[in-house]
Amino acid sequence: MSARIRRLLVVIAFIQISITTSQNSDRVALQALKHAWQGPPLSSWRDGSDPCGGDWVGITCTNSRVTSIILSSTGLTGGLPGDIGQFTELVVLDLSYNTGLTGSLTSAIGNLPKLTNLILVGCNFNGPIPKTIGNLERLRYLSLNSNGFTGTIPASIGRLKNLYWLDLSDNQLTGGLPVSDGVEPGLDMLTHAKHFHLGDNKLSGDIPLGLFNSNMTLIHLLFDHNSLTGNIPSTLSLVVTLEVVRLDRNSLSGDVPSNINRLTNVTEMYLSNNLLTGPVPNLTGMNRLNYLDLSNNSFDQSDIPSWFSTLQSLTTIKMHFTNLVGELPATLFSIPQLQNVDLSNNRINGSLDISSNPSTQLELVDLRTNLISDFSQQRQYAAGVYTFGLILLANPICTESGATENEFCSLPTKTSASYSTPSNNCVPPPCGSDLVSSPNCQCAYPFTGLFSFKAPSFSSMTNASIYDSLHNLLTLFFRNATLPVDSLSLKNPSRNLEDYLVITLEVFPSGQPSFNRTGIIGVAFALSNQTFKPKTDFNTYTFNAESYKFFSESISEGAKSKTSNTGIIIGSAVGGCVLAVLLVLAGMYAIRQKGRAEKAVQHNQPFALWDPTSASGGVPQLKGARSFTFEELRKYTDNFSETSQIGAGGYGNVYKGSFPNGQLIAIKRARQGSTQGGLEFKTELELLSRVHHKNVVGLIGFCFDQGEQMLVYEYIVNGTLKDSLSGRSGIRLDWMRRLKIALGAARGLQYLHDLADPPIIHRDVKTNNILLDQRLVAKVADFGLSKPLSDANRTHITTQVKGTMGYMDPEYYMTQQLTEKSDVYSFGVVMLELITARNPIERGKYIVREVKQVMDKNKELYNLHEILDPTIGLSSQLKGLEKYVDLSLRCVDEKGNQRPGMSEIVKELESIMTFVGLNPGSEPSTSASYEGTDKDYSHPYSNDSLFAYSGGILPPKMHPK
Ligand SMILES: *[C@@H]1O[C@H](CO)[C@@H](O)[C@H](O)[C@H]1NC(C)=O
Ligand SMILES: *[C@@H]1O[C@H](CO)[C@@H](O)[C@H](O)[C@H]1NC(C)=O
Ligand SMILES: *[C@@H]1O[C@H](CO)[C@@H](O)[C@H](O)[C@H]1NC(C)=O
Ligand SMILES: *[C@@H]1O[C@H](CO)[C@@H](O)[C@H](O)[C@H]1NC(C)=O
Repeated sequence: MSARIRRLLVVIAFIQISITTSQNSDRVALQALKHAWQGPPLSSWRDGSDPCGGDWVGITCTNSRVTSIILSSTGLTGGLPGDIGQFTELVVLDLSYNTGLTGSLTSAIGNLPKLTNLILVGCNFNGPIPKTIGNLERLRYLSLNSNGFTGTIPASIGRLKNLYWLDLSDNQLTGGLPVSDGVEPGLDMLTHAKHFHLGDNKLSGDIPLGLFNSNMTLIHLLFDHNSLTGNIPSTLSLVVTLEVVRLDRNSLSGDVPSNINRLTNVTEMYLSNNLLTGPVPNLTGMNRLNYLDLSNNSFDQSDIPSWFSTLQSLTTIKMHFTNLVGELPATLFSIPQLQNVDLSNNRINGSLDISSNPSTQLELVDLRTNLISDFSQQRQYAAGVYTFGLILLANPICTESGATENEFCSLPTKTSASYSTPSNNCVPPPCGSDLVSSPNCQCAYPFTGLFSFKAPSFSSMTNASIYDSLHNLLTLFFRNATLPVDSLSLKNPSRNLEDYLVITLEVFPSGQPSFNRTGIIGVAFALSNQTFKPKTDFNTYTFNAESYKFFSESISEGAKSKTSNTGIIIGSAVGGCVLAVLLVLAGMYAIRQKGRAEKAVQHNQPFALWDPTSASGGVPQLKGARSFTFEELRKYTDNFSETSQIGAGGYGNVYKGSFPNGQLIAIKRARQGSTQGGLEFKTELELLSRVHHKNVVGLIGFCFDQGEQMLVYEYIVNGTLKDSLSGRSGIRLDWMRRLKIALGAARGLQYLHDLADPPIIHRDVKTNNILLDQRLVAKVADFGLSKPLSDANRTHITTQVKGTMGYMDPEYYMTQQLTEKSDVYSFGVVMLELITARNPIERGKYIVREVKQVMDKNKELYNLHEILDPTIGLSSQLKGLEKYVDLSLRCVDEKGNQRPGMSEIVKELESIMTFVGLNPGSEPSTSASYEGTDKDYSHPYSNDSLFAYSGGILPPKMHPK
């Protein structure tokens, strides 16, 4: 058939069909999704088979209409096309935990009148949340948390009368909280909503008085980690249903409204880390309060409040830096469930009386830096009668001569707790790479993710029974839900930077070593959709999973032929007009095959455009890099317009662009005249295309067309580490974040040194070449100067010295012999820059020498206070800093062979993270290469998923002068 006739047939077929048009629009839209996406589940979406026949993984139908699309944690990549608006019967859309899903959220999402659950947790969507979302009148669950959404919260959300759950947390949202004004809707109209989770954004402005009213039924209000200003509105106390209030880590000021204690159902309240003034609030009557944190505010000097001993449900009271004076009542410590008391950095005085009958759950009483001069039970404490930790450091009782040997005058050594679900009376066998031993001692590939409990009622980290009970609840839940789960394990509980309790969950498949696709979808959906509800102690959670990579189908399917079979088409054609449907399907199939053929040319032979006359040595060996024409890139960058230019360097300019699916890209375009020979360009490309790691900026493709040489990278939204350290980016990096960044960058370099093939020496490690993505994950960038080590010279290569002053290894400079240890030196400088935020060479002073001069190992924090970046945080919170400084100084040892290797650095940083109480991440430092494995299914870094990442300023290459 010629193409014209085929097209004609399709037209005729459409005219003939009067029924099943909506069915067909579902089908056409599914085809569009199939085109827009890549990933393991899509191999089950066979051309010609009935999408509603049950074979299409993730699709559920009712009366031949698509009613749910659930593809959570399946390694999907691509964007969300506007065709999604065609599914007019769609009730549930869940694409959570696919970090390869990028681009903006199409405004066509508003065309789904039946949608009740819209769940896009933990993807990489960006751009604004479309206003049309307010058209989803049946919506009950809206979870867009942990993406890169920007712009303001659309006021139209206020029209979602049925909304029960609103979670927009962990995005980059800006602007204020919309309130209705008679014309525009606002969040105050959401009277059925129980959950407002808006934490971890960049929301600003005052919290409007009109946001709260007595018709609301909210139970969880989470506004923490924003930039909200002004007073806490007095209208808050109208929402008497509230149980959790988190307003911490904003810039709220003024008095706490005196009617706040009308919120008698509140169990967890965080007002900490604001600029609140006036009297310490009177919380008398908030008798259900379990967890209270009022720390770091500027309250007036105040006597110990009387409610200290009346709130009998307290487990945790945190009020450091709150200007308290006076003597603590002994009755405080006999509150029956009290676990942790942090009243450090106040002016509490007199004698400390722990009472004769302290809470049996007491874990730690931190009273450091107060004015306590006596301790009634000093002898009993010394004799070990009490089991809790007590800190009285920097109180008169400890500063008086001879008192310092008391145990309570130093910091307790054992603080970090560890928990992990024990084995079921069996001995865990050794398992191969990626395989993990389940609690039942079977090696399997678990589904893994992280629970963040944002307001648990307890603070004890050592009470294993709490985690055991969560484990039991989860086990019961999965069994009852008839999901293919054998067992599960919980591990590494810790309080993270946001003061959320985070716990790693591993879910093990039953009956076989890996989950199949429907199994994963079921397990992931139970958590993304909040179907699993923990009991009250844990309160609300969010769950963020890793995309599952070990599907059981992937092996068997590789062997099967994927060509479709006309028998299936006929057998499954629905409706009365079989012939017409057949024709439509045949037509679609033909068009699709043509598209596929074109795509195949582009994808499988990226060098169809390669000009063999200028490139000697034949077609390059590329892994996953895509070839673009000049025309395409011109289109994506608005004709290389000035506004799209984001950087310039000796090499040429860097442009920001976006693919039609919305994914942002950074394009490095060689200046005319500075292009390299075809051979060099080819060599560089081959090298870059082999590098795939979470902590290394990924190459998407290139252009070698019309005399141009361009490299296309993922765009990294938060720019360079330098920008953040210098304050230019507006991102505040506290000590924990800096540690994570150091570890991420170290892992990236370790990958280049130890796991990339051939190994790569970066040669220009500096804070300008470390980029931060939307989650502040560090990514090593710019291999402009990188050198692979060939087999012949595994240990070093002799080259002309290149690099950047201040970061350069002096040994390399002198001998011109480049080794991996030269990168280690530069990394050591980066580590020092990370804590001091000083340029390596500033006003003639060299950072390495400065640190060594000021340093005194006998003093607290090695005496580095004055040289540390003030925004790193309070010195009391810089746990592990000494170890970190030790490691940095080993990296900048004069002699290369005395410096640690990157893998040792990674291990050290991981152990510092653990010491600090952070989870260093599940990625073991020795994990195998990120490429070359998992060929059969779409690994986020495999060839199949070129569009897996949003992100990527590649800063201009800076040649040293
Ligand atoms: C609460 O709802 C009632 C009935 O719908 C309405 O008349 C009243 O104005 C509402 N009050 C507020 C403060 O919105
Ligand atoms: C407070 O909590 C109790 C127990 O959970 C509940 O019965 C009551 O209705 C709540 N009060 C309000 C105003 O929501
Ligand atoms: C706190 O409030 C309670 C009841 O609302 C009141 O009896 C008490 O006097 C108040 N305390 C102070 C110090 O104002
Ligand atoms: C078990 O499932 C039933 C029905 O789906 C549900 O009503 C019940 O609450 C579930 N029990 C548990 C422990 O999840």
